Amino acid sequence: MHTATLNRVYVWQIPVRLYHWLNGACVTALAITGYIIGSPPALQSGSEASFGYWFGTVRFIHFTAAFLFFFNFMFRIYWGFAGNKYAQWRNFILHRKEQFQEAVEVLKVDILQAKSKPIDSIGHNSLASFTYFITFIAFLFQCITGFGMYAAMSDAILPNLFAWIVPLMGGDFAVRQWHHLTMWFFIIFSMVHVYLVFYHDYVEGRGVLSSMGGGWKFIEKK
Ligand code: HEM
Ligand code: HEM
Repeated sequence: MHTATLNRVYVWQIPVRLYHWLNGACVTALAITGYIIGSPPALQSGSEASFGYWFGTVRFIHFTAAFLFFFNFMFRIYWGFAGNKYAQWRNFILHRKEQFQEAVEVLKVDILQAKSKPIDSIGHNSLASFTYFITFIAFLFQCITGFGMYAAMSDAILPNLFAWIVPLMGGDFAVRQWHHLTMWFFIIFSMVHVYLVFYHDYVEGRGVLSSMGGGWKFIEKK
């Protein structure tokens, strides 16, 4: 059995971890309530229709989670400037040759399974960073389309900043379709993401999985 001496490195600061789990909880609540909004079940009830408000509650949860999700996301963008070197925004945009080389290495490990050696990076590996970047763009799109639709039912300033989105995208119907489709992106992303986090935890043995809990990773001493 291979043994190694490990260094304990504090990678994910508390703001990144809080952001991550609040974001995960919001996306889960938004996907469940959004799915119900898109395909409402025809629930039968003996009481007066005006006493039933379950669908209103579903929408209320969607909108509350939406505001939390939006401000949490804005906070993560701020932390991309204020946080430690692993949280910095420039990690998420592939621009250096080594980042592209590492992304190819990760593909060899994750998809082709042609290698099982650990990836050297301490923060997110380059391919993971790139997929998070795509996810952040999708978060932005979901906020823009969501607040665009919400503008029709609110006098608040924030949603009304996005009121022009609906006519631009061809009307309410089109915006809802895109908003709905993007939900499936998050569902697929989450499944692949959780699988890969477990897989890298196993292949690398550096505590990737628990790093989003305690913040620490364990890196071989060179
Ligand atoms: C991960 C984030 C989100 C997901 C997965 C999501 C998902 C969905 C889905 C699937 C629908 C139903 C669309 C349809 O008719 O088929 C919906 C509706 C809607 N969402 Fe979102 N959403 C998210 C974020 C947001 C945000 C940030 C807002 C901002 C306020 C928002 C506002 C709305 C509004 C206004 C509707 C229409 C509700 C209605 O007409 O009853 N959503 N969402
Ligand atoms: C049980 C479910 C989940 C687990 C165990 C998990 C675990 C992790 C771990 C360990 C990392 C850090 C990986 C590394 O160090 O390179 C990470 C990062 C990330 N995860 Fe998750 N995750 C989960 C659910 C989700 C969900 C539902 C979403 C959103 C759709 C999400 C979005 C992200 C993002 C955006 C990052 C990058 C964080 C940043 O730098 O701000 N995760 N996750």
